[in-house]
Amino acid sequence: MNLKTLIVGILFFTLAFGAVIMEGCSPEENTKSNAYQQFIQDSVFDLHTYSNTKMIKTKHLSLDLDVNFEKKIIYGVARHEMINYGTDTAIFDIRDLDIQKITLGKTKEKETDFVIGPWDKDSLLGQPLIVKITPKTKYINIYYKTSPNSAAIDWLDPELTEGKKHPFLYTQGQAILTRSWIPVQGTPKNRITYQANVKVPKDLMAIMSAKNDTKIHEDGIYHFKMTKPIPCYLIALAVGNLSYASLGNHTGVYAEPELIDACAKEFKDLPEILNAAERIYGKYQWDQYDMVILPYSFPFGGMENPMLTFANPTLIAGDGSLISVIAHELAHSWSGNLVTNATWNDFWLNEGFTVYFENRIMEELYGKETADMLALIEFQELEQEINTIQKGKHPEDTRLKLALNGRDPDDGMTDIAYVKGAMFLKTLERDLGRQRLDKFLKNYFKQFAFKTITSEVFVDYLHDHLLLPNNFSFNTHEWIYEEGLPKNCFHIESPRFDQIKTLAKDFNQGKNIFKKKIGKKLERKTYITQEWMAFLRYLPDSISKERMLLLDKHLDFTHWKNAEIQTEWFLKGIRSGYQPITKSLEQFLTKVGRRKYILPLYEALIKTPKGKTWAKKVFSKAKGHYHYVSRKSVEDLLQ
Ligand code: BES
Ligand code: ZN
Repeated sequence: MNLKTLIVGILFFTLAFGAVIMEGCSPEENTKSNAYQQFIQDSVFDLHTYSNTKMIKTKHLSLDLDVNFEKKIIYGVARHEMINYGTDTAIFDIRDLDIQKITLGKTKEKETDFVIGPWDKDSLLGQPLIVKITPKTKYINIYYKTSPNSAAIDWLDPELTEGKKHPFLYTQGQAILTRSWIPVQGTPKNRITYQANVKVPKDLMAIMSAKNDTKIHEDGIYHFKMTKPIPCYLIALAVGNLSYASLGNHTGVYAEPELIDACAKEFKDLPEILNAAERIYGKYQWDQYDMVILPYSFPFGGMENPMLTFANPTLIAGDGSLISVIAHELAHSWSGNLVTNATWNDFWLNEGFTVYFENRIMEELYGKETADMLALIEFQELEQEINTIQKGKHPEDTRLKLALNGRDPDDGMTDIAYVKGAMFLKTLERDLGRQRLDKFLKNYFKQFAFKTITSEVFVDYLHDHLLLPNNFSFNTHEWIYEEGLPKNCFHIESPRFDQIKTLAKDFNQGKNIFKKKIGKKLERKTYITQEWMAFLRYLPDSISKERMLLLDKHLDFTHWKNAEIQTEWFLKGIRSGYQPITKSLEQFLTKVGRRKYILPLYEALIKTPKGKTWAKKVFSKAKGHYHYVSRKSVEDLLQ
C-alpha cells in the first residue's frame, strides 16, 4: 500500500465511520478532524503505522496474557497508559487480532466505541483500530485475542522441540509484527515501559524481554517488568520447557534441558564479550544480559530483545565458531536498543552501527586477524548484494537512508544497512583515527540513550561533534543518500584469505592439497569457519563432480554440522549439479528455518526447472516448520 492509498483509506474512514468516532463533536470540530490531519502528518513520518502518536501516545503498557496451546490463541488485555495531548481519537495498529471490547479508565472502566478500518489482503500494516476517547482520557484497555495465524507468534508442536515432550512458543516483533499479538502504536518512534502477567500451562516456563526468573513456577503464572523505555518491536515472549545456566557477570542462557550443557560450553565467552563491549562504548544499561536458544524454526540467527537475546540453535556449532552473532546481538544493547532508528527507513542506524561494534568486540577478544576475516566475508556478501539490487526493481535500495514507502520494512534487511553501514564507520575510523571515533560514538550513545533518531539527526550530530571539531570534510551525504559504494570505502585485507584463495585455485586446477606435508594433513580443524566459507566461495560454480567428491572424501562437507559451512557447501553443490548433497540438503531445509540460510538455497535451486520442482516439493514439506517471516519470503520467491 502506498502513501496515497493509505491517505485515501483514511479519508474513507473519516467518511464511513466519522459518525461513530466524531459522535458528540460540533460540526466545526468534525470538519477539522484534527486526529486525521495529525495522522497524515505522522504517517508521512513513519509509513508503517496507522497510529497518531503526535496526538496521543502510550507511555506504559500493562499486559494480562493467557497462553492457550490447545487453541493456539493468546487471550489478552492490553492496558495502555497514555500521554494525551487533547485528542478525542486514539489509533492503534492491529493485525489479525479479534478485539472484544475496549474500556477507558484505570479503576472504574467504562466501555467505549471503536471502529476497525478495512484490511486489504496485501496490506502489511494490518488495520487501524480507531478508539473513541475524550481529550482527558489517560487509560485505554483493549480486550482481545490473537489468531492462530498471528504473524509474530510461532506455535510449535512438541515434535519440533529438542525434548519432543512439550510445546513451545516464541514471538518475533521486529519490524512491524508486534501488532499481530498485541494492539500497539506500531512505530519505533514511540518508546514505552511495560509489565506483564502471563499465564502458561503448568510445567512450562515463560520468559520475556524484561527481568526474568530462572525457575519454572508451579502455578504457571509469571510477572515481568521492563522499566526502561523501549520501542514496541522489542516486546518479546518465549514459552517452553526451559532451564537456565548462569555464565557469570550478569549473563546466562535459557534453553531446553537437553541443550543446556552444550549451550553453557558454546557461549562460555559471553561474560568476556560483555566486558569487552563495556570497555569500548561504556556501561551496559540493561542490568542483565541473557539469551534463549529457541527451536530451529527461528527465522534469524539472533534477535536483540532487551535483556534476553533470542537465538537460533544453529549457533551451537560445538566450537564457539558462530559466537559473533551473540557479539552482534549484545552490541544492539547500545546501537538499536539504547539509540533506536525512528523509522524503518533509518534501519542502518540500528544494524550498520551494530555490525561495526560487533567487529570491534571480535577484534578485542579474538584478535585483528580473525576480526578481519569476519569482516571480509561480510564485505564479499555486500558486493554481491549491491550487484543484485542494482539489477533489480529497486536500485535505490543501495542507499543507506531507505525510502520504503508502501513496502514491507523487511525489504530493508539487506547487507546495505548492515555492511555498507558498518563500512561507513570503518572509513571514518580510518580517516579520523580510532580514538576520535570511539570518543564520538561513546558520547553519541550517551546523548541519545533511550531516544529514537533519524539519519538526519545523526548527520547533524556527526557534523557538529566529529567533523567540524576536527576540521575534517567527509562525503557523508554521498554515503547516506546516494546509491552504491563510495570510492573512499575502507578496504579490508586478510593475508589468510589470500592463502585460502591460492589453496582453492590449486585445488581446482587438480593439485592434491590433502597430502601430508611435514606432519601436516589438511583437516577440518586446519582452518576456522570463515576460512572454509571463503575456500568454498573461491571455487568456481562449474567445479567438477570429481573434485567435489574428493572434498567430501577428505573433509565430508556434506555432513559437516556447521550451518554456515553447510550453506556454502550446499550452494556450491546446487550450482555445480553435485547430486550427493540431495538427502542432506533436504534434511537441512526441513529442519532449519533461519532465513539467511534457506532463502539463498531456494534461490539457487529454482534456477533450473528440475531444481524448482524439487524445491517446491521440499518447501511443501518444510513450510509447517518455518516461522511466518521465513515462510513468506520463500513463498514470495517460489511464486
Ligand atoms: N535485529 C536483527 C534481526 C531482524 C532485523 C529482525 C530486521 C527483523 C527485522 C538481528 O540483530 C540481526 O541482525 N540478526 C542477524 C545477525 C547477524 C547479522 C550476525 C541474523 O539473524 O542474521
Ligand atoms: Zn542486528
